[in-house]
Amino acid sequence: MSHRQPSTERTHWWRDAVIYQVYVRSFADANGDGVGDLAGVRTRLPYLRDLGVDALWFTPWYVSPMADGGYDVADYRAIDPTHGTLAEAEQLISEAHEHGLRTIVDIIPNHVSDQHPWFAAAVAAEPGSPERERFWFRPGRGPQGDEPPNNWTSNFGGPAWSRTKNPDGTPGDWYLHLFAPEQPDLNWNHPDVAAEHEDVIRFWFDRGVAGIRIDSAALLVKAPELPDVGPNLAPGDHPHVDREELHGIYRRWRDIADSYPQPRALVAEIWLPDMHRTVRYLRPGELHAAFNFDFLTCPWDATRLRDRIDTTIHTHRAVDAPPTWVLSNHDVTRPVTRYGRADTSFSFETRRRGVPTDLRLGARRARAAALLALALPGSAYIYQGEELGLPEVEDIPLEHIQDPMYTQSGGVDPGRDGARVPLPWSGQAPSYGFSPPEAAAEPWLPQPPNWAHRTVEEQAGDPASFLSLYRTALRIRRAEPALGDGPMSWLDSAPDVLAFTRGDVCCVVNLSATPTPLPPHGRVLVSSGPLPDGQLPPDTAAWLRFPPSPNRTEPAR
Ligand code: GLC
Repeated sequence: MSHRQPSTERTHWWRDAVIYQVYVRSFADANGDGVGDLAGVRTRLPYLRDLGVDALWFTPWYVSPMADGGYDVADYRAIDPTHGTLAEAEQLISEAHEHGLRTIVDIIPNHVSDQHPWFAAAVAAEPGSPERERFWFRPGRGPQGDEPPNNWTSNFGGPAWSRTKNPDGTPGDWYLHLFAPEQPDLNWNHPDVAAEHEDVIRFWFDRGVAGIRIDSAALLVKAPELPDVGPNLAPGDHPHVDREELHGIYRRWRDIADSYPQPRALVAEIWLPDMHRTVRYLRPGELHAAFNFDFLTCPWDATRLRDRIDTTIHTHRAVDAPPTWVLSNHDVTRPVTRYGRADTSFSFETRRRGVPTDLRLGARRARAAALLALALPGSAYIYQGEELGLPEVEDIPLEHIQDPMYTQSGGVDPGRDGARVPLPWSGQAPSYGFSPPEAAAEPWLPQPPNWAHRTVEEQAGDPASFLSLYRTALRIRRAEPALGDGPMSWLDSAPDVLAFTRGDVCCVVNLSATPTPLPPHGRVLVSSGPLPDGQLPPDTAAWLRFPPSPNRTEPAR
């Protein structure tokens, strides 16, 4: 029995929720077309309830040409036909709620699809027309106008500008896209853009969603004169990152969220080098939480992890926002693969195909990292398949790769498809229950032939599996009042060992190369691997019942 109220009845639920990211295309395919759908998610809701998470974040499920896996939205008020219908989304939201699971939807305010009616109208209209004002159209530089208007680069590689054609076929103005050319950037100085997004947010809140995840949240506002990006910019001076005007936009969104009787949460995707800048978005009256990419990108190193944990906690405490703990998502290399490499950090800049990895070592570390993340104060995210210990699929045949990051980087970046391979549910061979047995189509990305031992079915009955570890940890987290939101205290520990208490629960993680004795304790609540002779082996973590101390145990919030 949980000590907490059912998670769907709690008010400040985002402060300690465990949020599971459903990458809809790859979760479960009910209609047999090889692409995940809402009907598939509905059949798997009991799995998610039993896993023990509190909320589901759905990557974009709206009408989209899928140039960037749905992050190119053509219509926010309708579901892409490959995923289902609006009625099914409404049903899913309410069924999830019946299972005690809140729903978070993804909003992508920086850009729309090039198939969005606004952009179609803009391209069809004259240069200088009002239709074009909702985007960033500019003449090119150089005598023929054949150079991009400024030096901005796309996050996917190459220039952030593409050139249009005039109706007579001659080259026309350029338009801005910080991602793929199929994702034109919106002009947030235009009143329609703000009004439309406020309406879209209400549209989904009115359908019972409990929160939104804000894509690329620090990129929306551009310096109107679109200057070149210069060297050594001070924070806030960049022409399209982290601009002050963003805060006003999010304060208005917060007012919308707060206008609902049931609490709604706003979670930001913000990649900034300095967490002090990130938490400015979490000040009272702004957003509720932000993904902790400093933790995600951190190498498997005790000193650096401790440093990032401390920075996270101090910066968040200053604005009274809950820290979040994230090990993976649909954009980054899966932890089992990353932690098995010589360089265990993550960065988009250095990501390459075929870097050697030791998956057994990576798996040990990923298990230990899971116990670390779930013991830290605040809320935590789990990306689908993380609970199964799925590795990155690094040998997807190139003709199957769909991620624009691969093509736009000229093949330098392997792309993100390796973390997006459809989930293995059961059986001995692809599609491993992802699609129904009689499915007409293969899964949209090929699954490895050796995933039979990684299926949910296989792992559910194995107490030593990844899935069992996640289920156990989540059950304990729910039952222990000191876990989730609240204080933590570091304990003295051997070098390269992290040890801290949360009330009478102690979490110890051994990142050193030798076994380390466990601190004096009562019961072992859970460990990420065997504990021979009462020692904690390298790359292993444990949660222990700790003798309470009057100085250390403060009540959880
Ligand atoms: C975010 C998403 C990513 C997408 C990009 C552009 O970073 O997580 O998947 O490609 O925004 O929308």
